[in-house]
Amino acid sequence: MSTPLVVHVTGARPNFPKAAPVLAALSEYPVEQLLVHTGQHYDDKMSDVFFRQLGIPLPDVNLGVGSGSHGAQTAAVMVALEELFVERQPALVVVYGDVNSTVAASLVAAKLLIPSAHVEAGLRSFDLTMPEEVNRLVTDRLSSLLLTTSTDAIAHLGNEGVHPDKIHFVGNPMIDTLLKNQDRFDSAAVTAELGIEGDYIVSTLHRPGNVDDPADVAELVKAMHAVADQIRVVIPLHPRGRARLQEAGFFDHANMTVIDPLGYIEFMGLVRGSRAVVTDSGGVQEETTILGVPCLTLRPNTERPVTITHGTNQLVTREVLADKVAQVLATPRAETWKTPPLWDGHAGSRIAEVIGDYLGVVQA
Ligand code: UD1
Ligand code: UDP
Repeated sequence: MSTPLVVHVTGARPNFPKAAPVLAALSEYPVEQLLVHTGQHYDDKMSDVFFRQLGIPLPDVNLGVGSGSHGAQTAAVMVALEELFVERQPALVVVYGDVNSTVAASLVAAKLLIPSAHVEAGLRSFDLTMPEEVNRLVTDRLSSLLLTTSTDAIAHLGNEGVHPDKIHFVGNPMIDTLLKNQDRFDSAAVTAELGIEGDYIVSTLHRPGNVDDPADVAELVKAMHAVADQIRVVIPLHPRGRARLQEAGFFDHANMTVIDPLGYIEFMGLVRGSRAVVTDSGGVQEETTILGVPCLTLRPNTERPVTITHGTNQLVTREVLADKVAQVLATPRAETWKTPPLWDGHAGSRIAEVIGDYLGVVQA
């Protein structure tokens, strides 16, 4: 029997910390691995820095698709992947999360009758105005292996009629990466480097629902300035909304420190040392849950409710944000807190085991 080929498809920032532990764990199995980067994200701080800092092997292939509308970007990934999959005939395609590169790879694999595994399957916000929800639904429908991070995800897949044999509760590979690297998260070094003194909160904002529409942006600026009236706000700003936010006066407050996106190690150091986080990111809701940093999620819903039931997360609106920040700042930090089941640093090896079983190979 020839060595089965596993193709991993990554492309956007949140994919990289999820793929790192899977690539490492699967390297102990007799499979050939090919790492594809679609090029959806391409700035050093949105992409290359993760490979350097997390020891991820350099991509074997970079499709270089870059930015574009949903249709143009997804289609460009599909065209390039179809050619690659036809040439390389993978035994399995592994896709991560909910970005356009994820759904593009799923669609191509399905049409070529190549099985695919979805890491982070079954998350649902039930909000179809989010492009990620569309990507999740399609990807899960087409995947042969549904690898879940939380029990609510298992329930969603069951409700959608997915056969239980396809669903595997493996835990959270993003948290593997966090736990593996946490000794490198040096808050003092990052704040010194950035010239930040005293207490601060960290914010990340990039969802279309917050930063695309000028009316939303105006509300966001008001809400965040009301936070900055209370405490310094450090924002490693995603490129998506930068121009619109700047134009709307977002940067114009003495307590707003707007910086470029940070490398993973520096970002996690900054978060660890913060009093709280205000975010619309998916991954950051999970990371704060493990670090015990209060997280205020500026969204009407979350596909990660386990970070509320077992973590530090709460959903907030722009209208109540400043009051919620005041409450959090006035409340002593919990010394102990629940964490979600199987967010224990071993998701990568569980995923490798499921893939190994599926391909009929055992750990070397
Ligand atoms: C994408 C994902 C989103 C994820 C986010 C993580 C989709 C539909 N969305 O959103 O789920 O939360 O990544 O960060 O896949 N840009 C740069 N440099 C880069 C990358 C992007 O300047 O390296 C700018 C471009 O102007 C681009 C815009 O950011 O048009 C948006 O990038 P895109 O990948 O389309 O979506 P994100 O908002 O990053
Ligand atoms: N992140 C980072 N530097 C930053 C902001 C985020 O390294 O300046 C990391 C962080 O670990 C986060 C991950 O990138 O969980 C993905 O974040 P993003 O918010 O872009 O994507 P999402 O999880 O919302 O899809």
